[in-house]
Amino acid sequence: MAVMSAKKKTGTTAFRCTSCGYTQPRWLGRCPDCGEWNTLEEVSLQDSAPVGPGSLIAGAAGPGSGDPFTHRVAPRPIPLSAVEARDGARLPTGIPELDRVLGGAAMKRSAILVGGEPGIGKSTLLLQAAAGAATNGRILYVSGEESAAQIRSRADRLALPLDRIELLCTGRLEDIGRALSDVNPVFVIVDSIQTVYSPEAGAVPGTVNQLKLCAHELVAWVKERDAVLFLVAHVTKEGAIAGPKALEHLVDTVISFERNDDEVRFLRALKNRFGSVDEIGIFRMTEKGLAAVEDPSGMFIVRRSGDLPPGVAVVPVFEGSRVFMVELQALTVPAKGAMTRVFSDRVDAARVSRVAAVLEKRVGLRFSDQDIYINVAGGVRLGESAIDLALAAALYSARTDIPSPPSVALIGEVSLAGEIRPVNRLRQRIKAAASLGFATVLAPEKEAGARAVSDIREAIAHLFGSSAARA
Ligand code: TYD
Ligand code: MG
Repeated sequence: MAVMSAKKKTGTTAFRCTSCGYTQPRWLGRCPDCGEWNTLEEVSLQDSAPVGPGSLIAGAAGPGSGDPFTHRVAPRPIPLSAVEARDGARLPTGIPELDRVLGGAAMKRSAILVGGEPGIGKSTLLLQAAAGAATNGRILYVSGEESAAQIRSRADRLALPLDRIELLCTGRLEDIGRALSDVNPVFVIVDSIQTVYSPEAGAVPGTVNQLKLCAHELVAWVKERDAVLFLVAHVTKEGAIAGPKALEHLVDTVISFERNDDEVRFLRALKNRFGSVDEIGIFRMTEKGLAAVEDPSGMFIVRRSGDLPPGVAVVPVFEGSRVFMVELQALTVPAKGAMTRVFSDRVDAARVSRVAAVLEKRVGLRFSDQDIYINVAGGVRLGESAIDLALAAALYSARTDIPSPPSVALIGEVSLAGEIRPVNRLRQRIKAAASLGFATVLAPEKEAGARAVSDIREAIAHLFGSSAARA
């Protein structure tokens, strides 16, 4: 009987998926890992012994090639005190906006995953970085997506210096390993990790197993070198597809390239072992490639002549170390059903509901029968509590149809009791507002260039007239 014979073999054989490499003790019609049908094949357990990190790349160099990986010995513990600290070993990419997001510059011996939807400019950014970094040493640009001619013509279009950039158009991990030993680069760009495969990880390229194994091998390589590894990953609009998400814990830094509605691109760190994740890089895609937006503080305010429409208010917010003036927009309409809703994907909906509740209670303006829509000009997401006061003004203005006075910037957290609470880095926020021509700044504390407001009723009265606060 089949069951009996399978039982007898327990411990000596296993069933391995030819598509993803997933191994498990019993035969199944469908692989539980990748979901492919009829791909499980019986293998001897001796044959399917796991492959150690780095061994594939090392193997590619061939025996006796002098690669230290081929003579790998089992690592032994060493005293922590004997370890050489490698602080400050960073390599600038020549692109200040990218360096800022990386925490100053790219850290040596680190792996950086760059995610973003197709067409956003990942290849452009990294080719520009390759050219900028070439002052540090040789660069290896591996492309499994584009031909050498395509990359050359992009470099020409961008008028980039080509010195010291070596191209390799392949997806085969073992070939990449050989090129790494030949070139010994300080910067390695793999565009994209989804095109890299190794026959070791099953027959089908592009599976999660392929991704993990290949990324693991490449990361193991960079950990032993004074080099930086960039892995490009395509991420669909709906967010992280299973593949790149599975790589996030393997790498030191994950940066995401995003866009708002126009030509502006944002670079932000989602994870960074070597710096903060608050800094953003801002670029514009031009015919000469990605260009840094030099003074971005005013780029999220909407310039208008004359009066403001009802429902808008401006607040200075911090993204990392920089201040941006941002326009908040609110709209309220009577709820159609018994339940009211908050539609807000740039500002936390709970914050919107809370500020509306404070206005209802402290200022006497009813929101509990209204649907509320909140938007942020420029498409940035705002998480700071310092936006509360501007949010309150936008909501009040939307509900009453009275516009805020022009040229006013609002700063402050709003407590449940309606007090305007202090925020951090107030002086820098006031300075940013003043430098962009905001004549009046309402703030929680007395500060040069600002008017202090202590509670929400006082702030509303100041903005919309003394009859405004009705409660
Ligand atoms: P690309 O870097 O290929 O995006 P990704 O690697 O993320 O898929 O380029 C994205 C788009 O940018 C492409 O549609 C063409 C455009 N582009 C420019 O507008 N100007 C330029 O100088 C370059 C190189 C590209
Ligand atoms: Mg590309």
